[in-house]
Amino acid sequence: MSVDGIIVAVDGPAGSGKSSVAREVALRAGLKYVDSGALYRAVTLHTMRTRGKVVEGLDFSSIIDEITLQQRYNDDGTCTTFLNGDDVSEDIRTEQIAANIGIVSDQRVVRDFINNYIRSWAADNSIIIDGRDIGTVVFPDATLKVYLDASVDERTRRRSLEYAEKGKDVDVNSIKSQIILRDTQDEDRQFGALKKANDAHYLDTSNHSREEVVTILCDMINEI
Ligand code: CDP
Repeated sequence: MSVDGIIVAVDGPAGSGKSSVAREVALRAGLKYVDSGALYRAVTLHTMRTRGKVVEGLDFSSIIDEITLQQRYNDDGTCTTFLNGDDVSEDIRTEQIAANIGIVSDQRVVRDFINNYIRSWAADNSIIIDGRDIGTVVFPDATLKVYLDASVDERTRRRSLEYAEKGKDVDVNSIKSQIILRDTQDEDRQFGALKKANDAHYLDTSNHSREEVVTILCDMINEI
């Protein structure tokens, strides 16, 4: 397997296991893991901090003008996200961010802003990147495209576990409602909607362990 200049696009809905799988595959296959969702989360965090509330009609062109984004790819496969030079990797993982991210992700200017960053990073690295529109919009010519899916109940269980492991309060019903809401927002978006690319491999992970999914992806990469 040669990992020079390859782009592995992993799309799918919230809680389908994209990020944990992508991190582990990055580690095993010698790729850099780019977390596109973290960039939308960072823009949401900045908007909440500076504008108080995220509402339709905010001037998102001015908001992105105030922002510099960076990601650092760590040796353990993780990715650290910087907003205006500050590490916000922890601050962006809250339910409050998830509840407000829909409006931010709907903005064409925000999407173009983030996609420019991602494409410039990919120019210098072999990457595995997860998101919603990676295989359709950001990298339609990606080397390998995978669409990870899972049932709403399984995705709720995974997200609840993730919060519990971090010592956060877990209200399973509210997590489930938010996953359902975010699915609708992500699927109905005018630009960059969540959608399986025609040439993506579809994988329902509901009955697969993370390890099994990682192995399936690594086998696919080995065949490149
Ligand atoms: O980790 P989780 O699946 O909850 O989501 P994420 O990957 O952190 O993405 C959070 C949100 O960012 C998504 O629900 C989308 O609204 C937005 N997003 C997007 O619009 N396009 C992407 N390529 C990645 C994320």
